Amino acid sequence: MPLAMAPFGGWGALAAFLSLLCCRGSGEKAFEGPKQLMVGSGEFQFINCTASCTDPKRLVLETALNKTLLESQTQWKLFKVYNISKDEELLCSSTCGGKQETKVFHITVFYPPKQVLLTLSPTSVAVGTLFTIECRVPAVAPLEGLTVTLLRGTEILYNQTIVGTALSPQDAVVTHNTTAHREDGLYNFSCEAQMDLRSRGGGFVHRVSDPQRLEVKEPVPNNQTVIIAIVIVLLLLFVTFILLCFVFSQKWFRGRTGHYGVYATWRRLIGSHRAPPL
Ligand SMILES: *[C@@H]1O[C@H](CO)[C@@H](O)[C@H](O)[C@H]1NC(C)=O
Ligand SMILES: *[C@@H]1O[C@H](CO)[C@@H](O)[C@H](O)[C@H]1NC(C)=O
Ligand SMILES: *[C@@H]1O[C@H](CO)[C@@H](O)[C@H](O)[C@H]1NC(C)=O
Ligand SMILES: *[C@@H]1O[C@H](CO)[C@@H](O)[C@H](O)[C@H]1NC(C)=O
Ligand SMILES: *[C@@H]1O[C@H](CO)[C@@H](O)[C@H](O)[C@H]1NC(C)=O
Ligand SMILES: *[C@@H]1O[C@H](CO)[C@@H](O)[C@H](O)[C@H]1NC(C)=O
Repeated sequence: MPLAMAPFGGWGALAAFLSLLCCRGSGEKAFEGPKQLMVGSGEFQFINCTASCTDPKRLVLETALNKTLLESQTQWKLFKVYNISKDEELLCSSTCGGKQETKVFHITVFYPPKQVLLTLSPTSVAVGTLFTIECRVPAVAPLEGLTVTLLRGTEILYNQTIVGTALSPQDAVVTHNTTAHREDGLYNFSCEAQMDLRSRGGGFVHRVSDPQRLEVKEPVPNNQTVIIAIVIVLLLLFVTFILLCFVFSQKWFRGRTGHYGVYATWRRLIGSHRAPPL
């Protein structure tokens, strides 16, 4: 059976067989299954092509991508593959003892956070009022590897691990509404994006936004409240004034006439004009 045609399921038995043939310890690594790698879009990847025997006939890396040979020994060759912009399969092949060996590298392109944009809105708030912290990480993939953390100084205000299955790059947006405290004005707000692809053969990318300040103001009553308060006070003063006038006028007439009541007083006043007392 030609080796190149063996399905991947057959690798295990084949690997066991060949590693028995090849007693050199260094040969064993050539028979791991297909290797998963993650590469940032447009970046490069080192590929070490290894043969199971010490004198391979032909040791090559098959790819349409640009590559350079960095280092070469009888049993392995180290390549640098450039400018990887889409998912690729790279194939290392060699011929040992007349048999062809292949090893597949599955390369998945990821889009690391290149920018982290933090927006506070509004940028100037009164103590006790709500403001929104928004953090945008443009064009990232895969989303499920991304954690976005909102910070005040070094304190974590909020963090979120993004979920999503889209393979094409897209914006990750995290918003958090919170109430302004007096001390918020003393710190820088920032946003941190972490893409952790270590469990999938990729790396760990960490990027932080520019710091943002929040202007915190003491609460100021608004104009309407002030106007209403002034009107109410004026009305109260007016009513009090009227009442006082009334009470004093009653006392004054009572003192002059010895009678009670407005009507009586009025009658007396009118009457006194018509027919002055003796
Ligand atoms: C390539 O792999 C072989 C076998 O695993 C190893 O001996 C060699 O040091 C590796 N080369 C580099 C540059 O890592
Ligand atoms: C390889 O690199 C050359 C120049 O460095 C460039 O002209 C060519 O387009 C590249 N090929 C690929 C497949 O990227
Ligand atoms: C990388 O790839 C892009 C498009 O795939 C191409 O425009 C660019 O010239 C390439 N760069 C190099 C250095 O090969
Ligand atoms: C997210 O916040 C929780 C609780 O504040 C913390 O335990 C966890 O470590 C944070 N995760 C990251 C990735 O910072
Ligand atoms: C935050 O508040 C804005 C309006 O002020 C609202 O549209 C948005 O849904 C809120 N976001 C969260 C996460 O509660
Ligand atoms: C906030 O950030 C600015 C600009 O980077 C810096 O100059 C300032 O020292 C920072 N303030 C605090 C309290 O960390």
